[in-house]
Parts: sequence; C-alpha cells; structure tokens
Amino acid sequence: MEKKPKTEFLYLSEPDMIAAGVLDAHECVNVCEEVFSLLNAGDYLMGGPNHNSHGLGIVFPKETKFPNMPVSGPDRRFVAMPGYLGGRFDVCGVKWYGSNQANIQKGLPRSVLTVLLNNKDTGEPLCLMSANLVSSARTGAVPGVAARYLVRKGSKTLAVLGCGPINKACVKAILTQIDTIEHVVCYDLFEKAAQSVADFAVAHGKTATVEPDLEKAVRDADVVTIAASRIKPLVFKDEWLKEGCTVLTSGPIHPDEDFWLKNKIVYDNIGLHEAYVEEAVASGDKDEYYSGVIGGPIYRLIDSGRLPALQDSIDLGGIINSGTGGRTNDTEKITFVACGMSVFDLGWAYQLYQNALSKNIGTQLALWDEPYVE
Ligand SMILES: NC(=O)c1ccc[n+]([C@@H]2O[C@H](COP(=O)([O-])OP(=O)(O)OC[C@H]3O[C@@H](n4cnc5c(N)ncnc54)[C@H](O)[C@@H]3O)[C@@H](O)[C@H]2O)c1
Repeated sequence: MEKKPKTEFLYLSEPDMIAAGVLDAHECVNVCEEVFSLLNAGDYLMGGPNHNSHGLGIVFPKETKFPNMPVSGPDRRFVAMPGYLGGRFDVCGVKWYGSNQANIQKGLPRSVLTVLLNNKDTGEPLCLMSANLVSSARTGAVPGVAARYLVRKGSKTLAVLGCGPINKACVKAILTQIDTIEHVVCYDLFEKAAQSVADFAVAHGKTATVEPDLEKAVRDADVVTIAASRIKPLVFKDEWLKEGCTVLTSGPIHPDEDFWLKNKIVYDNIGLHEAYVEEAVASGDKDEYYSGVIGGPIYRLIDSGRLPALQDSIDLGGIINSGTGGRTNDTEKITFVACGMSVFDLGWAYQLYQNALSKNIGTQLALWDEPYVE
C-alpha cells in the first residue's frame, strides 16, 4: 500500500515572530494595503454564510451553577476569527484568542492570541504562531493604510485617545506613513498609560505631551487615533475637532451625532458592516447588539434614514482600487472606522510564515508520520 504523507507544520514562538519581522510596521502597512485591495475585489471569505462575519465568540453567562464554568467579566471572551485570503496569499486560517481584563493583575496581556494557517485544500496545518504581535501590528497597520490615503498633506499633530498596546501600534504605523507629524498628544484615563505612549513618540523622534482634558487633547490635532477600551465611554463633540482633521477609530466611541452626520465616513469593509447589521437583526435585540459593536451608533443613524445606506457608502479598498472617493479638499473632516477582520491577521501571518521559512526560523512539528487508520 502507498505510504501516506507525513504532515508537518511550523511552530513560531513570540521571539521567532520578532525574528521573522512582526515588528516591521511599514511592511505590515504594505501587506494590509494589499488585503484592502483584495477585500474590495471580493477575493476573500470570512465566517458565516454571508462570508463577512467577524467571528464566533463564546458568550459567558452572568452566573452559572457549575463551579468551573467561566462567567462574564470585564473584557472577558473567547473568539475564533476564521477566513480565507486570496491573491498571492491563497491560504485559510483562524485567529483564536481569549481576553480577560483580570489578566493584567497576573502580568499577562489582556488578550492572548494565536494564529493557525492551513492548507486551503487538505486542511493540514501549515503554521501555528504566537499572534499577540501579529494582531497588534495589523490593528495598527489598518489605520496606517487609512492614514496613507486620507490624511491631509502637511499634518503636524497627532492625538492619541486611549493609550493601550493597540493604540501604540496605531501610532507606530501612522508615523511610518505621515512623516510630517511633529507632535503627539496623549490622552488616557490613566496618566501612566498616556505617559508610556508619549515616551514611545519621543523615542520615535517626536515631541509629545500628556493631556488629561479630552477637548484640549483633540483641539489642535490634524490626525486623531482612537483605541480606548470600554471601561468608560469616550464621549466627545464634533465641534472640538479642527477643519481637515482625520479621525482613525479602531475602538468604540461615543461622539455627538454631528460627528457622524457632518463628516465623511470611510468604512474598512462595507460587507463586514452589512454582516454586523444582519447579525444584529438575527440576535432578536438589535439595540443591545448595536451597543456592543464599534459601528452601532452609525447603524442606528442609517436605520433612521439620517445616513446613507451601507451599500451607498465608501470603503477604503474601494478608494485604493478606484483611486476615487478619498479626501477631496483640505477642509473636510474624514472618519475612518475599523472593526477588525481575520483576513488582516491572515495576510500578515502568511507574510511572516514565508519570512520564517526563508530565514529558517521556528520549529517543525509533526502532526503525524502518517495518519492513523483503525
Ligand atoms: N479594530 C480592531 O481591529 C481592534 C483589534 C484589537 C483591539 N481593538 C480595540 O482596541 C481597544 C484598545 O485595545 P487595547 O488592547 O489597547 O486595550 P487596553 O485595555 O490594554 O488599553 C486601552 C486603554 O484605553 C484607556 N481608556 C479606556 N476608556 C477610556 C476613556 N474613556 N478615555 C481615555 N482612555 C480610556 C484605558 O485606560 C487603557 O489605557 C479596545 O477597545 C479593543 O477592543 C480593536
């Protein structure tokens, strides 16, 4: 009988990922730009029958009679984000993570992530990798691509609202794209967090200040990057933002209605937002669902007919592929909304897997020498 094939896959630890180039923010922005283009062309699949579901999470109950079953808590969830990415990537995979605010007290990151890449035909694993840095790099690179296309030329001041690891990655990626930025203003509920991003900006050759007042933090900003967690709603007014400002939001925000109604909204992927609305309807409690997602305030305005329907709106891949729909003058305010998609993790993960193979980084592990058949 013919010998069955041995299945091996590459394991990449966090130090391996660093050696493979995961911290290269500029390269990650380039890869994410390719992914935006594939999204607009439709050469991708994400979860669910609509091919656009963000992922599937375990919803922890508020209470349980089982002593070991996890119960809900701050930022506590498990989520699987599967996908297929086409083009030169041509790979399937999943990002899988657990998040729990209580991790911080244990000296762990709030969320712990891995990515598994698979052969699209056989399903065999190709690479299992530590993915905290993949995820933060791609989350930073997504607004980095938006900055490349939407920010007004000559922008000098960057405001950072919410100064956790995700926004640090956003700052890093944005600075690779906008070399005119001179000053970074950092705002967080905790001075220590804001100071850490300020120090980071100084280490990248910028001047930086910590500003405890939100209105003052954004008043002079040409670019605002937002990635605050949900411990306290981030409430602000459109009138605080100056003409020509670009707001890049990667986390939940609670601005006044003017912010959404008066400014140009550029989505990360219209299909994803249509899927969120579909899932909200299917959940049976649309309003509750909207409250839990970044686009919720926008979907409410669309439902009431005050904003254009999603299919009549613009996304970044459309701007990249068509060369139209982006900034048209120096005075308009533009808001870019990013909600996170597995295909960005898969694109960057695949690139790093290729880098690791060519540099001989990582550990080959065998799934089997040959599959066991009884
Ligand atoms: N769009 C995406 O692809 C994507 C991916 C990953 C994470 N996120 C989101 O990014 C956000 C940040 O993630 P993180 O891992 O850095 O979180 P984190 O909890 O480590 O840090 C968030 C920071 O925001 C601050 N903050 C919270 N509310 C604030 C407020 N009202 N005003 C000022 N500061 C406030 C906190 O003090 C904290 O320093 C989260 O909302 C997360 O869900 C988005």
